[in-house]
Amino acid sequence: MREASEETLTEAVIEKLASCSDPRLQSIMTALIRHLHAFAREVELSEAEWAEGIRFLTATGQMCDERRQEFILLSDVLGLSMLVDAINHRKPEGATESTVLGPFYVAGAPELEPGATIMRGGGGEPVAVRGRVLTPGSQPIAGALVDVWQTAPNGFYDTQDPTQPAFNLRGRFRTDGAGAFHFRTVKPASYPLPTDGTVGRMLAALGRHPFRPAHIHFIVQAPGYESLTTHLFAAGDPYLDSDAVFGVKNSLIVEFRPAADGNGLTLDYDFGLKPAA
Ligand code: BEZ
Ligand code: FE
Repeated sequence: MREASEETLTEAVIEKLASCSDPRLQSIMTALIRHLHAFAREVELSEAEWAEGIRFLTATGQMCDERRQEFILLSDVLGLSMLVDAINHRKPEGATESTVLGPFYVAGAPELEPGATIMRGGGGEPVAVRGRVLTPGSQPIAGALVDVWQTAPNGFYDTQDPTQPAFNLRGRFRTDGAGAFHFRTVKPASYPLPTDGTVGRMLAALGRHPFRPAHIHFIVQAPGYESLTTHLFAAGDPYLDSDAVFGVKNSLIVEFRPAADGNGLTLDYDFGLKPAA
């Protein structure tokens, strides 16, 4: 098309998609072009601002490798990760709510015996975690895999902190015949997202803090059920109402209670899995 104008350019670009043989890709790209163009029109984007936007996206990509994923972080702080999660995990009654995976999951954590601790270093307030994995009708699911990870009391994951041994505060546990699992850990702390990259600079420019409320991450899987990615958040945490990635749901806030024998804290929670479609 010649002579595309401010008024006709959007439709001219969309017409180019007529030759796309993948209908889903065509519909995603059509919507993306419409929304991108509408965004530029709405804010009357200047050339200097768009050049700055391109510099920002380039620097974000340059911060990504096998250990650091700045684009996931960007999606998280913009609320896009939680929106995609909400669209994809509409839960039936009895199933546990999901929340963001985050960039610190490491596949292949060791499978540990029931009751083992995931803490490989010292320090922190001990916690005994107990729970069951259930169907939406509260029937136990035996043999489910419960994959757990969290920060150390200093607020860092093992992958961020060279002083921690590999797989510190990570482990996988199998449920028994009653659908039960238990393990030991330490109370997690609230912590800031990494602020030494483009996302940190963006949050500072926007006057937003980078903190997440204290939490333990879980992925719960069993054959015949949808995989559940979620966290349990510590009740009373000062960042529950201002999580930098919008991941908190009321049903995922739990009390860490003093243990009856006076030894540390206990955390009890049952997970409900949604049958696979
Ligand atoms: C996390 O909880 O590990 C996390 C989630 C989203 C962004 C950064 C960290
Ligand atoms: Fe986390």
